[in-house]
Amino acid sequence: MTVEKNIIKSNFIDTFRSSILHWYDRHHRTLPWRAPIGTKPNPYHVWLSEIMLQQTTVPTVIPYFLKFIGLWPSVKDMAAADQEDIMKEWAGLGYYARARNLHKCAQTVVNEYSGVFPNNYEALKQLPGIGDYTASAITSIAFDLPSTVVDGNVERIMSRVFKIETPFPEGKKQTKKFAKVLSENRDDRPSDYAQALMDLGSMICTPTSPKCTECPVLAQCNAYKAGKSALYPIKAPKKERPKRYGAVYWITDRQGNALFEKRPEKGLLGGMIALPTSSWETEPKTPPTFKKFKLKPTKQHIKHVFTHFELRLDIYIAECSDLLSLPLQSSYTIYPIKEGVQLGLPTVFKKAYLLAKDLTL
Ligand code: ADE
Repeated sequence: MTVEKNIIKSNFIDTFRSSILHWYDRHHRTLPWRAPIGTKPNPYHVWLSEIMLQQTTVPTVIPYFLKFIGLWPSVKDMAAADQEDIMKEWAGLGYYARARNLHKCAQTVVNEYSGVFPNNYEALKQLPGIGDYTASAITSIAFDLPSTVVDGNVERIMSRVFKIETPFPEGKKQTKKFAKVLSENRDDRPSDYAQALMDLGSMICTPTSPKCTECPVLAQCNAYKAGKSALYPIKAPKKERPKRYGAVYWITDRQGNALFEKRPEKGLLGGMIALPTSSWETEPKTPPTFKKFKLKPTKQHIKHVFTHFELRLDIYIAECSDLLSLPLQSSYTIYPIKEGVQLGLPTVFKKAYLLAKDLTL
């Protein structure tokens, strides 16, 4: 690839890195998991933040991160924690497999590495919940070793600097090659460089209306030179998200209790406390039935967007005299209605709970 050869030949890499690092020294964000420049970061903090930041924005993550390090100040504390407590505190962050892996990973670090995170990509990648991106991010950010970190910010920056014409997602492969050329074997501040690209992507090289005049690498940016920064990355037309339909059941009794269900360990929202639901189908199917309860439809529904589909759940209600007196399968649990907020319901069920609770007040 000619551009790759050119950037290797010229002093492009030196200029690019030093401009980015100089900008970072003056404009970096202060974030709770970040060590001040020139000091060593805590690998536990870096790992925890990187797991939380997968698919989740910085402002959303900050309060969760602070809560977690308050409850579990070290990887040993987290390894000794109750899995249920971790799941509960994770509620609202989504992608719950991350929380299960968090606990497994903490236990592996304690059992196999005496509570000290390994400092190399290969060993990190073997740990539960750590893939290519996270292993690279921890290698560079926590241990200041060269590793190519490619997140959404880096993909956007590369697509603009090198004016990648292949539409995303296909074009993402090329961004990785460029990012690698710029970071491979470079031991000039790998930790700061990785974080500088993240900050540049979130503060300057933003998805819409990038602030190109404030950019430290504007002179090296091919999309800017063509006057087209905001048009990159070029995106393939989006496929519409498939839709799924189902019913969610709000079963209450006269003592002020409601019926909840622990979801099966495997599958979406596995192991989380939820409201009972029908299966989720590609076509609306009415009316649902549920055990021995006489369901009444309501005019209410909730919608929730998952990565791979959009879900609509119609709310059905039923009331009985005393839930606690009924023989129920062990996956069902009964809680006072007012305690629902503290159960750590995943967002889709929290929406249903809040709406249903108001319907039956
Ligand atoms: N996004 C992913 N990792 C990040 C980090 N360490 N700092 C800021 N944003 C991030």
